[in-house]
Amino acid sequence: MLSLGEMMNRLCIFLFLGFSAVTATAQAGSDSLKATFESDFYVGAALSREFASKKGQARRELVKREFNSVTSENSQKWSSMNPKPGDLRLEAADEFVRFGSDQGMYVVGHVLFWHNQTPDWVYEDSNGQPLNRKELLTRMEQRVKHAANRYGKNIDAWDVVNEAYLENGTLRETKWRQIVGDDFVEQAFRIADKEMPSSVELIYNDYGMTEEGKRKAVVEMVRDLKRKGVRIDGVGMQGHWTLNHPSIELIEASIVAFANEGVDVHISELDIDVLPDRNKAFGANVKKTLESTPSNDPYKDGLPQEMQRKLADRYAAIFGLFYKHRDKVKRVTFWGVTDGHSWLNNWPIKGRTNHALLFDRHYERKPAYRAVIEVKKGAGA
Ligand code: XIL
Repeated sequence: MLSLGEMMNRLCIFLFLGFSAVTATAQAGSDSLKATFESDFYVGAALSREFASKKGQARRELVKREFNSVTSENSQKWSSMNPKPGDLRLEAADEFVRFGSDQGMYVVGHVLFWHNQTPDWVYEDSNGQPLNRKELLTRMEQRVKHAANRYGKNIDAWDVVNEAYLENGTLRETKWRQIVGDDFVEQAFRIADKEMPSSVELIYNDYGMTEEGKRKAVVEMVRDLKRKGVRIDGVGMQGHWTLNHPSIELIEASIVAFANEGVDVHISELDIDVLPDRNKAFGANVKKTLESTPSNDPYKDGLPQEMQRKLADRYAAIFGLFYKHRDKVKRVTFWGVTDGHSWLNNWPIKGRTNHALLFDRHYERKPAYRAVIEVKKGAGA
C-alpha cells in the first residue's frame, strides 16, 4: 500500500511530467530559427565550454529549440585540446561533439590550424628549438589524424585553416608561414583531404572577407587548390560585423565570388557589434584591444528601443541577402547563444555590455529575432 505522502509525491511527479510535455510541444510548434529556414540553410550557434555544465542547462534547451548546427567556440582549438606535449584535455570537445551528434545537428569543428590559441610547443622540438618544415608537417598530420580518429563522421565539417590572409590579400606572417612556407594552406588541406573521412567537409575560414584584397586572395587560393586536385568544400565568412559595416553590397559580392568557385558559403561566426569605437581596421583580430571608458560602454542597463530597431533592421537586411542567396549559403552560425555569452562583451574592450545576438541575457527573443523570422515570412513562405 502506498502512504498518502507517497501518493501525493507520485501525483506531483505525474502532473509535473505532463506539464513539461505540454510546454515542450507548445515550443516545438512555435517559430524557431531552424524550422523557419529549414529548406534554406542550417542555422547554428557557437557553444562555449560551460554549455555542458549545470549552468548551461537553459542554453542547451534554447539551442535544441532554435538551432540545427553547432560550432565549438574554443574547446577544439589546439590550446584547449592539447595545451602541453602529451597533455590531452578532451572532455569539453567530446561533450560538444556528443551533444551535436545526439541532436542530429550539423556539427562544425573549429579549428585545425590557426596562429592564435596554438601553444608555442607546437612549433618547437623537445629542446625548445624551432621545428623544420618536414617536422611541422608531421605534427600537423598527427593533429588531423587524432581529430579524425576521435570524432570521425560525428563532425560534419572542419574549419581546416583560419585567418591565413591579411585584408590586402597577402599571407599573414605567422609561424605556420615561416616554418612550413607559403604553401602552408595547401599543405593543411592536403593533409585534411587525406586523413579525414570523405563525408567531412573542409572549410577555409576568415574575417574581413568583404575586403577586396582578401576576397581575391581567397578566390585564387580556392582555384589553385581545385586545379591541383586538393579538396576544399567551403569558405567561411566569419561575419563579425557592425551596424554599418560592411555594406550589403560588399557582403553580396563576396558570397557570389566564393560560390562562383564551386564551394559552399558558410557564414560562420555572425554577430553585430552595437557598441561605439570598434575600429574598422580591427577586422576581428583577437590580438587588438582598447581601453574601456564610460562613453564606449553606453548600454550597461539594456539596449534602448531605438537601438533595438537599428539592430533588427541590420539583421533583417543581412538575412534578406542570405535568403536571396540560399542556393549558395549552406549555413549561418551565430558566434554565441545569448548576449550574455558573446565574446563581444570582452573584445576589443574587456568587460563591456554588448547586445550583438538574437537572444537577450534572459534567453528571450529580441526584436532582431522577430525581424529575422519575418524575412522568411515576408518572402511568402
Ligand atoms: C574567440 C572566442 O569567442 C573567445 O572566447 C576567445 O577568447 C578568443 O577567440 N575569430 C575566430 C574565433 O575564428 O575563434 C574567435 O573566437 C573570434 C574571432
